Amino acid sequence: MKILITGGSGYIGSHTIIEIFKNTDWEVLSIDNYSNSSELSYQRIEDITGKKPTYFNVDLRDLEATEKVFSENIGIDGIIHFAAFKAVGESVEEPLMYYDNNLNSLANVLKCQEKFKIPNLIFSSSCSVYGNIDELPVTESSHLAKAESPYAYTKQIGEVMLQDFAKTNPLFKTIALRYFNPVGAHLSGLNGELSSNRPNNLVPFITQTAIGKHDKLTVFGSDYPTRDGTCVRDYIHVSDIANAHVVALKKLFEEKSFPAYDVINLGTGNGVTVLEAINAFEKVSEKKLNFDIGERRDGDVGEIYADNTKAKQVLGWEAKTTIDEMMDSAWKWEQYLSENPAN
Ligand code: WQD
Repeated sequence: MKILITGGSGYIGSHTIIEIFKNTDWEVLSIDNYSNSSELSYQRIEDITGKKPTYFNVDLRDLEATEKVFSENIGIDGIIHFAAFKAVGESVEEPLMYYDNNLNSLANVLKCQEKFKIPNLIFSSSCSVYGNIDELPVTESSHLAKAESPYAYTKQIGEVMLQDFAKTNPLFKTIALRYFNPVGAHLSGLNGELSSNRPNNLVPFITQTAIGKHDKLTVFGSDYPTRDGTCVRDYIHVSDIANAHVVALKKLFEEKSFPAYDVINLGTGNGVTVLEAINAFEKVSEKKLNFDIGERRDGDVGEIYADNTKAKQVLGWEAKTTIDEMMDSAWKWEQYLSENPAN
């Protein structure tokens, strides 16, 4: 099989390529413009697996350049579309950047999928499509509340685009995977998230504070209606997420009766508060984290975690990595980066 991955040098994309190389003989092409990653990811993939994908530095908003990759690589059997901006907080500050990038990139991928008759697509969606939902744990049939951020809205719109597109051609089959909170790094310690200088997400901010890049971490709010007042999320290891993509694509290859469009939650089913995540980090790293309690962050929902029954039933997949192992892998990666700054 030949797979094209958009965003393949990114956090989840690079870990997915590692799992594809470890578990299949698929040929992998990657398109990335390095807006939130580095070409060095491909070297790290090779360091871990002994293989590199064929890769292209292309911005998916450039339809001509994107089509050129597809026209020069005929016979693609499946696409995994990761490429998107994904920070909830940042999207509140830069909505247009998010609508332009996330939606125009997806539209161009679908145009190429149609033009080159590529039958299978896996879409990187997000639990943020559920909004501030009060029925927990969320199932795939839970009602989608109002998106709480432009990022979340780009994922809600993206799913509708895919549903409408899938109806246009019985050849096309799509699964939207709704990630909860991907965290951690490859257990080898040789690949992980390359955060910008000031990451938006909790776990890289914890490890960067612990390594000394920031004086302290601020917990965004402790007055939520949760067991300790801080937000609850379903943190899931990035390699568990990556494995789910391999399983989902295999399902589309093998099961011709699979629906034209389906959505599946990727979570552990366990909700963890911000303070519990900090405690888990302190336990595995044996370091005291300097943090204080601040105001709530715009765009945050108080509590969300997955009902992961459908993934078990439809894909036969479930997450295996514990919160302690997630934090340990994130901490090892932060230490690797401080010892190998070239990355
Ligand atoms: C987690 C919790 C913050 C930073 C993420 C991804 C998004 C999507 C959903 C995949 C929140 C709190 C954070 C800090 C804090 N995943 N926090 N201090 O907002 O749940 O969204 O998961 O598509 O792509 O961004 O994740 O890590 O930003 O925040 O207290 O310095 O940590 O308030 O409660 P979020 P996050």
